[in-house]
Amino acid sequence: MEMYLLDWANLLLRWLHVITAIAWVGSSFYFVFLDNNLIKPESPDLLEKGVGGAMWAVHGGGFYNPQKYMVAPKKIHTHLHWFYWESYTTWLTGFALFSVSYLWQAQTYMVDPQLIAWTQGEAVAVALAFLVGFWLIYDVLCRTIGAREGGDKWVGLLVFLVVVGASWLATHVFAGRAAFLLVGAMIGTAMSANVFFWIIPGQRKMVKAMGAGEPVDPIHGKRGKQRSVHNTYFTLPVLFAMLSNHYSFTYTGPYNWLVLVAMMAAGALIRQFFVMRHGYKLGRNGNPAPYAWLGVAVIVALIVVMRPPVPVANNSAATPPVATPVAVADVKQVMTARCVMCHGEGMQMKGVRLDSEEWINRHAQAIYQQVVVTKAMPMNNATGITDEERALIARWFELR
Ligand code: HEC
Repeated sequence: MEMYLLDWANLLLRWLHVITAIAWVGSSFYFVFLDNNLIKPESPDLLEKGVGGAMWAVHGGGFYNPQKYMVAPKKIHTHLHWFYWESYTTWLTGFALFSVSYLWQAQTYMVDPQLIAWTQGEAVAVALAFLVGFWLIYDVLCRTIGAREGGDKWVGLLVFLVVVGASWLATHVFAGRAAFLLVGAMIGTAMSANVFFWIIPGQRKMVKAMGAGEPVDPIHGKRGKQRSVHNTYFTLPVLFAMLSNHYSFTYTGPYNWLVLVAMMAAGALIRQFFVMRHGYKLGRNGNPAPYAWLGVAVIVALIVVMRPPVPVANNSAATPPVATPVAVADVKQVMTARCVMCHGEGMQMKGVRLDSEEWINRHAQAIYQQVVVTKAMPMNNATGITDEERALIARWFELR
């Protein structure tokens, strides 16, 4: 029953998380796009009002003409729309989902006893330390080096190095799948914290100053913009980390941390292409294409480097060995030894039971995929399945 309810919680939280993330990423991409497409108005009354740039767009059967004021307009409408719930709900649902599907079942999903046999409490504490620790380091970098003239490039480089270090560390203390997700959650947390601690408070100060008829300190806008720019480069890397758990080939190898870093770097490069592309059309930026090509080259290189080894051809024997079908009873023996502790009467992970021949036959395709193709099962190989046993399952499935 607990498993069943956890599955529901997982489904509903994931649904909500994806929806709110789409809303957040969508609006944040839109504003980056908007900023890059603003054209300085020529009409004197707009200039007189303080409009620094405007854009014309057509969407959904209507025409839109958003205008951006430099620093602050002389007066603002009382109905001012703020953007923060998209971000906060994404973080809240994401953290709840992480708790339900990882922290709650840390022994199954996070701990790889071949790395470090954490207790659940330890695993939870270490995971939370990643989330908080990254934010503290990143925030200090932005406030010190990032506040200096021309410091932004250094912040970018240092944040990249911190992410590399965190990826290495996470994959050396947790199972690959959890480590990838944790690195994604860590960066995602910093993105929401940027909104919560800097962007929104800064905007509140601006609005307050305007209300009091005082001059608006441009530092708030500058700081908000810096965090906003970082968030845009974090987006694609985080989304890769969030999706990676469906692709065990990315996180199961010994150099999985490099795969994570390379994919995240490719994401940031491709994002850079899109950011610059809008301004490029208006003649503001250099040609951004090299960023896209570099990102694609990194991915292609990974595809090549990570390819599975070609099986050694058996050219010694003139007669190929006759493949004999495997009886399901033999497979059942393997299941009993390696799988039933998580897929038996007591516990049925993902609703999969493997304690009878009938169930085994029914799940044949999924067993083959999980054990032979992706090797995701047994989870973190908790039960120590051997290569021979995997081969046996492969033969059983292929010759059924
Ligand atoms: C330590 C516990 C554990 C062991 C041992 C284990 N599994 Fe799993 N299994 C899980 C968990 C947890 C999930 C859910 C994975 C997820 O959420 O992606 C799962 C999911 C599955 C699924 C469904 C996958 C899907 O996404 O639909 C199959 C099939 C499966 N396991 C087969 C096996 C087989 C076959 C073995 C033995 C060779 C095995 N498992 C051993 C924990 C285990």
